[in-house]
Amino acid sequence: MTPAINPAERAQVKHVHAFLDKQMHERQVNKVLHGFPSVRLWQERNVPVKQFLTERRDRRERKAGGLSLYVASPFCPKTDPERCGYCLFPIEVFTGMGQLETYLPYLEREGEMYTGLFDADEIVSIYFGGGTANLYKAEHYPRLMAIVRKVFPNFRADAVITLEGLPQLFTKDKLLRMKASGVNRISMGAQQLNDDLNKLSGRPQTVKQVLQAIEWCHELDLECNVDLIFGWPRQTPERMSRELEQLLKTGIRHVTHYELNVGGKSDFALNHRHELPSEDENLELYRASTELLERYGFRQLTVYDWEKPLPSATTALYEECTRDFDGNEMFGWGFAGVSEFPGTGAAPGWNYMNHTVLRNYYAAIDRGEFPVECGFHFASEDRRLSGLFRSLQGMEADRNKYLAAYGVDLLEEYRPVWQALLEREWAMITDDRIRLIGNGVFYTPLIQTLLGSRRMEELKRSLISKTLPIHPLQSAPQ
Ligand SMILES: C[S@@+](CC[C@H](N)C(=O)[O-])C[C@H]1O[C@@H](n2cnc3c(N)ncnc32)[C@H](O)[C@@H]1O
Ligand code: SF4
Repeated sequence: MTPAINPAERAQVKHVHAFLDKQMHERQVNKVLHGFPSVRLWQERNVPVKQFLTERRDRRERKAGGLSLYVASPFCPKTDPERCGYCLFPIEVFTGMGQLETYLPYLEREGEMYTGLFDADEIVSIYFGGGTANLYKAEHYPRLMAIVRKVFPNFRADAVITLEGLPQLFTKDKLLRMKASGVNRISMGAQQLNDDLNKLSGRPQTVKQVLQAIEWCHELDLECNVDLIFGWPRQTPERMSRELEQLLKTGIRHVTHYELNVGGKSDFALNHRHELPSEDENLELYRASTELLERYGFRQLTVYDWEKPLPSATTALYEECTRDFDGNEMFGWGFAGVSEFPGTGAAPGWNYMNHTVLRNYYAAIDRGEFPVECGFHFASEDRRLSGLFRSLQGMEADRNKYLAAYGVDLLEEYRPVWQALLEREWAMITDDRIRLIGNGVFYTPLIQTLLGSRRMEELKRSLISKTLPIHPLQSAPQ
């Protein structure tokens, strides 16, 4: 419960309700903001990578949650329509193995630039993603891991090492080599278990291939996550539930169930918008999947992640948010890799992204420069908002930890917002936490937008006044 609010705050609460009433039926551009601010405001072109990583090392600054690593692969098989019809991630179309043979040495050379900067770090999780990280041949995986080990020799004993890929590109041989190289978890981008919908997104992938790849993972004792998306054209709760149930019956223990993000110049945005379910219908899909996953014994980890717990399980998953504010750091390595170093209260840190055009990534490394395209230097409020957004991805925020991390009372800082969420039964407030509940969980992206709106306006105004161009990835998901 929040203490009684005064008349001025009541007016603000009314304003928040009006905002939510208007926006809740609209599609949000960013489905879940992993951090703050969105990438379109990352306008700094000269990110002092060496300087702040050196300062970080010298301060012996380590977050309790440790350092996670994201290792990117740029390439994806060609599809028609392009980019699977809906994808907003930066990728390059795969034309042959020669591309990977060119890319790997560049990845290695980028790694060499960090020599000495991460020596004292222990890696808590690695995610080989992309793009499509299972385009490599079987013999490439030990090489990939050796490149990583050269820069990061220390992995935590229980580090979760995930490799993401397309179902039809997993073979038993590849999976064996991945496992032998140290990968202990596969994340399979199925997106849907419906061959007609697959055709709509141009992906030459069948349900049979998804089920086969899951079976191999189980045979080889490799943990397996399946990425699914809901909110497809013509999708109904009944159809979605039937397909989801077919997947759950395979015995997988981790499912990621994203809401389809439609934007940019994707085929879906340009040609299929009119066929998409409304936001209200998406809410129905979300509720139906929640109910089904719970019935199958899954526990919700984040707004979009579900896991069937093992009695012994503790996982340091890349997808799982940091429950402690300011709790961990992410180093993104390779093409379009995203790094997040929140820094400290006295020295707020950076979010930055490597080049999203491959020739620019290569050219920067050839010049001996860090291949960084753009970044954002936090002010205190941005650090706080970023921590809050991450935490809300896990559906709750710990008030005591927020106070300890930032010296600010979370309830006081956004009191009209919490009050409005309470009145809608979208949040629950206790002495120690604020938790999103009911439909509030589905509306997390909208709630994040609301929480960050004042600061976003301020940042946009300051950017306009600097007359900087808007970043080309402005419509990309976070
Ligand atoms: C960067 S993609 C790479 C995975 C792999 N290439 C694939 O397509 O399966 C990572 C995940 O993001 C999700 N994703 C991609 N585009 C999306 C969109 N427009 N809306 C929602 N989720 C999306 C998918 O679930 C996908 O598995
Ligand atoms: S959805 Fe996956 S395979 Fe398709 S273009 Fe995006 S990253 Fe590549």
